Amino acid sequence: MNISQTNRVLSGMRPTGLLHLGHYHGVLKNWIELQHSYECFYFVADWHALTTHYADPSIIGESSRDMVIDWLAAGVNPGNATIFIQSRIPEHAELHTLLSMITPLGWLERVPSYKDQQEKLKDKDLATYGFLGYPLLQSADILIYKAGFVPVGEDQVAHVELTREIARRFNHFYGKEPDFEQRAEAAIRKMGKKNSKLYKDARRRFQEQGDTEALLIGKALLDAQQNISLSDRERLLGYLEGGGRIILPEPQSLLTMAPKMPGIDGQKMSKSYGNTIALREPPESVEKKIKTMPTDPARVRRTDPGDPAKCPVWGLHRVYTSESTRQELTEGCKTASIGCIDCKQYIIDAMLDELRPIQQRVNEYLNDLSGVDSIINEGCEYASDVAQDTIKEVRKVMGLTGR
Ligand code: TRP
Ligand code: SF4
Repeated sequence: MNISQTNRVLSGMRPTGLLHLGHYHGVLKNWIELQHSYECFYFVADWHALTTHYADPSIIGESSRDMVIDWLAAGVNPGNATIFIQSRIPEHAELHTLLSMITPLGWLERVPSYKDQQEKLKDKDLATYGFLGYPLLQSADILIYKAGFVPVGEDQVAHVELTREIARRFNHFYGKEPDFEQRAEAAIRKMGKKNSKLYKDARRRFQEQGDTEALLIGKALLDAQQNISLSDRERLLGYLEGGGRIILPEPQSLLTMAPKMPGIDGQKMSKSYGNTIALREPPESVEKKIKTMPTDPARVRRTDPGDPAKCPVWGLHRVYTSESTRQELTEGCKTASIGCIDCKQYIIDAMLDELRPIQQRVNEYLNDLSGVDSIINEGCEYASDVAQDTIKEVRKVMGLTGR
């Protein structure tokens, strides 16, 4: 096996209802973009959904396949990305259990979302073992695929940080093979004369002088090396940095810089605010929702001037309208030369243009559910292969040789 671990992206989404434009602009468009430059793994996080929806899980079963359909319709391409369902890959759960052995309780209690979400979702009892451990389950999701990058919003950065700390702790405990140095030296020889020398040079400069440039050179050298196995690569990376062998590599956050997608009340679009427009929203309903949106309260009559800065609709113009149109509309609003109905029409048109091809593809997939299931099955099979490779290694270093 020779995977390029640093090039792998992993992300998951909870199946808790139909996707809306907030998901599309905040997450999906980014996923679709990433497919061009990374090996992507996108999964339905159904176990994660259970951490908050355990009392009434019906929505999870109902929305899992529909969510995949929405991904596909939006442009996630199964030729570029592996699409799968978390609960069909039991290795996530096994790794979660194994990682739980080395996870200090304080690390989990410190994750900001633990207390925040308990505060926010007051109608649910989230003082559960599963909810406390959910960031660790996320760490297992990431580490089981040795993902290099995790696209996340601001609220999830702390989870990737936890994952890095867990990986470091794991490697510290289990990355020390008794014959580590000999194996590393043997791996160096496999790189050929010239590269061996460059690697040793870079290692010495980093370890003796803390030269971080040399560290980068060493890493680049390993990246470019075609003829060494993954475990040798991990050994050499650990040897370069001065630790043991790296079994679970530390992932990095890819912070998604999407513009804020407002809902139909001007707040962030979110199911819990009841202000969403679904990807499958019928055109008449899109039109009605936008037309009934509140505007600048100063514009009581058509002849009253207004100010876009005080209008909940304006956030949508930032997503859908060009800079020059926005200038004209600002002028028109402030002088009352346009009405709110005219102003909103730009958004209605742009939104319907965006949704039309997506909804067309949704219908195609709904008429071919067995095709969708094959995509999911193939994704699960591939994900399972990768996950099994990792769990075998983990079992071995944690003393579980009984099978
Ligand atoms: N926790 C994420 C959310 O609630 C979903 C998720 C689960 C995830 N596992 C992941 C995201 C791994 C990125 C990587 O949105
Ligand atoms: Fe809002 Fe446009 Fe009406 Fe001005 S004209 S208040 S920006 S909807």
